[in-house]
Amino acid sequence: MLILGIESSCDETGVALVEFDPGAAALPRLCAQGLHTQIDMHRAYGGVVPELASRDHIRRVVPLVRQVMDECGGALSSVDVVAYTAGPGLAGALLVGAGAAQALAVALGKPVLPVHHLEGHLLSPFLSADPPEFPFVALLVSGGHTQLMRVEGVGRYALLGESIDDAAGEAFDKCAKLIGLDYPGGAALSRLAQQGRADAFAFARPLLHSGDLDFSFAGLKTSVATQVRKLQSVQPDAAHGALTEVQRADVAASTQAAIVDVLVRKSEAALKRTGLRRLVVAGGVGANSELRAQLNAACERLKARVHYPELALCTDNGAMIALAAAMRLHSGVESPVPAGAFEVRPRWPLMVGMPQPLA
Ligand code: KG4
Ligand code: ZN
Repeated sequence: MLILGIESSCDETGVALVEFDPGAAALPRLCAQGLHTQIDMHRAYGGVVPELASRDHIRRVVPLVRQVMDECGGALSSVDVVAYTAGPGLAGALLVGAGAAQALAVALGKPVLPVHHLEGHLLSPFLSADPPEFPFVALLVSGGHTQLMRVEGVGRYALLGESIDDAAGEAFDKCAKLIGLDYPGGAALSRLAQQGRADAFAFARPLLHSGDLDFSFAGLKTSVATQVRKLQSVQPDAAHGALTEVQRADVAASTQAAIVDVLVRKSEAALKRTGLRRLVVAGGVGANSELRAQLNAACERLKARVHYPELALCTDNGAMIALAAAMRLHSGVESPVPAGAFEVRPRWPLMVGMPQPLA
């Protein structure tokens, strides 16, 4: 069975083709994928401009579908189901992908399958060379969400804890901005951190000892902003209050340490609390090498296994959407629906609307 997946929830247009055999136990296989990132376009504005994002998705989606079909040498008519991200995300951006998917499905006479963006991230490690097995604890760390989940199977997710304010990726991006790094600053901050001292500044680690599995990162941003202002105030006039390279690297390393510390400690607590010995990390921040190193060490201590998506599949992409659709169909938790009237869900909690929610 061939599933075409379309992702357009934020600033990446992703299209991919995934194949699976309904009668076999084997995991779905990625046949081809295409991606266009809008990062360069939004950089000038310091963040995603929703209207520009929608317009760019319109320009990219059809050429990407053509590119993916050309790459795998199949005809569009061989696609069995057209899957698309129905939420959460930017309303206009979601509508472009959903509209394109629905139009394509109508033209081909094929059904559609709306997919939850976070389920795509959550299942993306199943496309890696070292796929996990159910059940596991999932640490979902993206630009918009930070959640710990107990995952029993496809569509069976229980929330263990989440951020009560900023997401981890958002914290990376906002703190990166404070030290003059371009949007989205997560990866750039992490590169700069390699030259700095992680113990240079003791930044806030809110909720570290809260006893629950919730996160809070808004206080970290304030803590970093205060430190940056303090450093600026003692700079010589000639430097116009700019931080030195060493100071910027120290702030970057200390910021990363604070975020990673909280994510690792709460992940450890989630493993202990659930008794599970498998951790799956997903979402853009899952690409962070310091987070990976520390989670590897923590899981070794706990004799647990940890699984990551391939680096290229950490941030938004079409492969994870086609995969999530394939896994939902393969496991029987969902059937495709006829193309036609549709809606998108800019706000859509992952736990709601799932056919088999955990008690
Ligand atoms: O999952 P994602 O592509 O988008 C959402 O669904 O939100 O995640 C994007 C986020 C951004 O905040 C970006 O700065 C962050 O992931 N990110 C990183 C790294 N690579 C991407 N954060 C820290 N270190 C990285 N290497
Ligand atoms: Zn995402």
